[in-house]
Amino acid sequence: MTGASRGLGKEVARALGRRGARVVMVARDGAALAEAVREVRADAVRDVHGLAFDVGRKEDTHAITGAASALVGPIDLLVHAASTLGPLPMPLLLDTACEDLAAVLEVNLVGPFRLTKVIAGSMALRRTGTVVFVSSDAAVEAYPRWGAYGISKAAQDHLTRVLAAELPDVHFLAVDPGEMDTKMHADALPDADRSALASPADVAEQVVAWLARGRQRSGARVTIAELAR
Ligand SMILES: NC(=O)c1ccc[n+]([C@@H]2O[C@H](COP(=O)([O-])OP(=O)(O)OC[C@H]3O[C@@H](n4cnc5c(N)ncnc54)[C@H](OP(=O)(O)O)[C@@H]3O)[C@@H](O)[C@H]2O)c1
Repeated sequence: MTGASRGLGKEVARALGRRGARVVMVARDGAALAEAVREVRADAVRDVHGLAFDVGRKEDTHAITGAASALVGPIDLLVHAASTLGPLPMPLLLDTACEDLAAVLEVNLVGPFRLTKVIAGSMALRRTGTVVFVSSDAAVEAYPRWGAYGISKAAQDHLTRVLAAELPDVHFLAVDPGEMDTKMHADALPDADRSALASPADVAEQVVAWLARGRQRSGARVTIAELAR
């Protein structure tokens, strides 16, 4: 579970742990991650671990996958929730430095791709496993100032589809969680009415219950409204 020290990632980790999964939580800030692990463990989840790494750093790929496998054994479910918006406030696309676009792609697309190569490769050999990419409506709608982030999420959606077409024994899914009351949302839209936003805990429950039902078509892109049906 990447992006697991707060927001949706932490809540998905908690929801999985409550259902008996052995969980590895990944985020960069070690202190915040340790606190999140303590919080999830206090919620009657015994087998939960934190790994402080950066999914956007190539050097961290094998450290994450190696340590995660050593802690919980073969990975059955990989959830990519770590994500960056890039520079704040978000600039128009033509005002975005090429280096900033590249940095967003590194965290939101290339890093998840690296982790998926290692983990889905092992899933394919075992002929089982699920990889979930957390998408966004910015992947399909062209919102001004959401360019770098939206491009990364659109590419991630297509990564999901191509991987599904190439690896029939592994499930690849893209889930658009809708607007949630998280730090990322506050960073992007500080003036938004937070009372109108979904709680990440509620969204995580829906996502994990949906995954547990196990009737998904590999390669699908599903919104939170669709997965409740
Ligand atoms: N909130 C929304 O309204 C919304 C809407 C649509 C889609 N989404 C998607 O939902 C997912 C979760 O978002 P959120 O709102 O829960 O965000 P959040 O509250 O800001 O949490 C982001 C998490 O990702 C971690 N992270 C960020 N960069 C990382 C990196 N390079 N390596 C490892 N971990 C990293 C953060 O911890 P560190 O900073 O310590 O690394 C944190 O744990 C994202 O994929 C986002 O695009 C959110």
